[in-house]
Amino acid sequence: MKTVRIKGNQEGVRAARDILVDGGIVGIPTETVYGLAANANDDNAIRRIFEAKGRPLSNPLIVHVEDWKMAMAYVSGDVSSGERLALAFWPGPLSIVLPKSSRVSDLVTASGSTVALRAPNHQLTLDLIRSCGFPLVAPSANRSGSISPTTAEQILQDLDGRIDAVLDGGSCVVGIESTVIDLTKSPPIILRPGAISASEISNCLGQEVMISEILESREPARSPGMSRKHYSPKTPLYCVTDLEQIGNRDVLISFGPHPNAIVLPDTPTEAAVVFYTTLREVDNMGFDAIYVLMPPDTTEWQAIRDRLIRAQG
Ligand code: TXA
Ligand code: MG
Repeated sequence: MKTVRIKGNQEGVRAARDILVDGGIVGIPTETVYGLAANANDDNAIRRIFEAKGRPLSNPLIVHVEDWKMAMAYVSGDVSSGERLALAFWPGPLSIVLPKSSRVSDLVTASGSTVALRAPNHQLTLDLIRSCGFPLVAPSANRSGSISPTTAEQILQDLDGRIDAVLDGGSCVVGIESTVIDLTKSPPIILRPGAISASEISNCLGQEVMISEILESREPARSPGMSRKHYSPKTPLYCVTDLEQIGNRDVLISFGPHPNAIVLPDTPTEAAVVFYTTLREVDNMGFDAIYVLMPPDTTEWQAIRDRLIRAQG
């Protein structure tokens, strides 16, 4: 299969729509990372996503909608908290887990009773969803278990020849995946930390919000994508808190100035933007090991620390 690279303009949006309407799968830009999209109402197309990524069918997909109005057909029961969060944070990097309606395919939810929904904040993809008239399921557009792409070029490194097209919408402005909040639990629980913080969600809901302690816990993961080994480079990666002696075939990454390291920004929002691209580049340099000086254990660094600890496996 030849993977077509589509320019990010209105003509490109129409071309991507035609492929999706025909049951194709297309890499799409979002503000967080690129997704690999299919028509959320087309089981054959959804199956192709799992095949292209090598993703286990047990890992559910996020349904990408234009807005809360589109989401409403896919949820059921009391969704008032979901509506409140959607109106406050969409389009934006927040995926909301709610009881699903009968319209949602079992392939999307891994046969579960809940569905994750979000409206991505990228104009091309919002235009694309609107012109399709149906929502798009879209996991991150990488081979299962590897690093999420933040440019169209990076999707091709992983999936060229395995997907129909990539819609090029430039570099992702957030750089790491959306926050996933499960509203079917009481209190609500953050399954994956991201750009929208627990306190923002908690303030909006007027309710306490828990954070999944998967990183410490030895229990089976609540959501299959929460398993620890994830987002991993091929090179072994080690999280360290102090500067340790590193060999001359190793590399060190730090957040903020350091004389012997590849230096990332010392603020979490800016670090996130370049985080995955840096990991990819360093991974391709042939080092024996990647050491990362961990950023502080504070809530604002939680999303990046989460990705690092999982990359360590
Ligand atoms: O920022 C993002 O969320 C990106 C962009 C493309 O939107 N998408 C993304 O999708 O990161 P993916 O499939 O790589 O990660 C989705 C995560 C997985 O950990 C999955 O297990 C979890 O969300 N998830 C999906 N549906 C769920 C559900 N119903 N209940 C619990 N977790 C769910
Ligand atoms: Mg992913």
